[in-house]
Amino acid sequence: MACDRCGDLLDVAYAWDRLPVPGALADFERQWSRRYDPHCFSGVWRFHELLPFVPVEQCVTVGEGQTLLQASDGVGRYVGMNPGGLFLQYEGMNPSGSFKDNGMSAAFTHARSVGATRAACASTGNTSASLALYCSVTRLMKAVIFVGSGKIAYGKLSQALDYGALTVQIAGDFDDAMARVKEVSKELGIYLVNSVNPFRLEGQKTIMYRVLEALRWEVPDWIVVPGGNLGNSSAFGKAFCELKELGLVDRSPRLAIINAAGANTLYELVEKQGLCWRKGLPDGAAVCRYYDEMDAQHRRASTIASAIEINRPVNLNKCIRALEGMNGVVREVTDQQILDAKAQVGAGGIGCEPASAASVAGTKLLVSEGVIGPDERVVCILTGHQLKDPNATVAYHTTDQELFNKVLGSRGVRRAAFANRAVAVSNDLDEIIKAIQLYS
Ligand code: F0G
Repeated sequence: MACDRCGDLLDVAYAWDRLPVPGALADFERQWSRRYDPHCFSGVWRFHELLPFVPVEQCVTVGEGQTLLQASDGVGRYVGMNPGGLFLQYEGMNPSGSFKDNGMSAAFTHARSVGATRAACASTGNTSASLALYCSVTRLMKAVIFVGSGKIAYGKLSQALDYGALTVQIAGDFDDAMARVKEVSKELGIYLVNSVNPFRLEGQKTIMYRVLEALRWEVPDWIVVPGGNLGNSSAFGKAFCELKELGLVDRSPRLAIINAAGANTLYELVEKQGLCWRKGLPDGAAVCRYYDEMDAQHRRASTIASAIEINRPVNLNKCIRALEGMNGVVREVTDQQILDAKAQVGAGGIGCEPASAASVAGTKLLVSEGVIGPDERVVCILTGHQLKDPNATVAYHTTDQELFNKVLGSRGVRRAAFANRAVAVSNDLDEIIKAIQLYS
């Protein structure tokens, strides 16, 4: 999926002047009147005219993209915004519980169109759950997934196993698994569905279309997204670049990408070293130097937000382009900030996994810096479902200090400011009633 000449990732480009493009974004609303048709129901394929790489009848869907943009004044207050300004885009409502289904429906569609029978990915858990689900529901391909041993949350591992994917646990982390899956898929001719695959990003563009749809086609001021392998941020940049080119929006929101402090390659390169797009010629030598230094110091990614525990993001260059196109910024947040933000999301909404809460923690930081104004309109992308990683959640709320120390203390998390602790009582009616009266 890389260019033979320069080695960089390929992009999907369309001859828009030869395609039927809608006159206005609101034209897509017509699709809803035909919800009985699976392609109109799909939150990806009802925007087919904006990702028309195969005819719509051939597009694979398992009902992805039925997501919600929820206004959340509770979380808004926590991050320092005025009422009505903060929105949470719940991608955990997808069939496999994360945003990955948007991209998987597109990559899967392309894989089928070229006759693939096996598909592979390396994953911190959600890509693998998504691929495994598409394979098991459609029975169209076999899934081969690579995960770092002990590096994947149980909710996600349980999905891959349950859906029947061939699951290869590598003695290493995501960056190791990614390097291996590229070699193996080349050697064995297996279709690769990681976000090195440009069709994945085509599907992920639709997250932005649905945000716009929920805002009645008004462009928000900010999109805030966690950064791992940087597929989402790259896709969002491409989406707005194309919408502008097509005259369907007159401006783009600003983009904020939030790294975990323990996996902060993008933050270091962009904010500390000034890496930028430079008209398509970002400083590749500086990136190589950064990675060489990282290897020399044996630095590995480490964060409770295991979904974004990635030090070598494959979409780095496309992401740099997105930052340029959307006048973006990058920030890093600690595991403490992530878990506190996650508890706030859970208390005021549908909940999310740790990586997703980086977007809320990052928004709080940017509001405190004055980069995001309290009266702006901000959309935080909640990338994965709350049930993906119950261990992190239970450890945060626990009364068991040993469990807290084991799961979180070792990562520098010192307190659980928003813990909702279970009340322990003996199995006695009077004691139970007393406890309820005391705490309610
Ligand atoms: N949030 C969640 C819940 C994720 O699973 C991921 C990536 C990200 C954020 C980061 O998104 O890569 O587009 O910057 N998970 C991948 C996986 C790497 O294998 O499931 P990104």
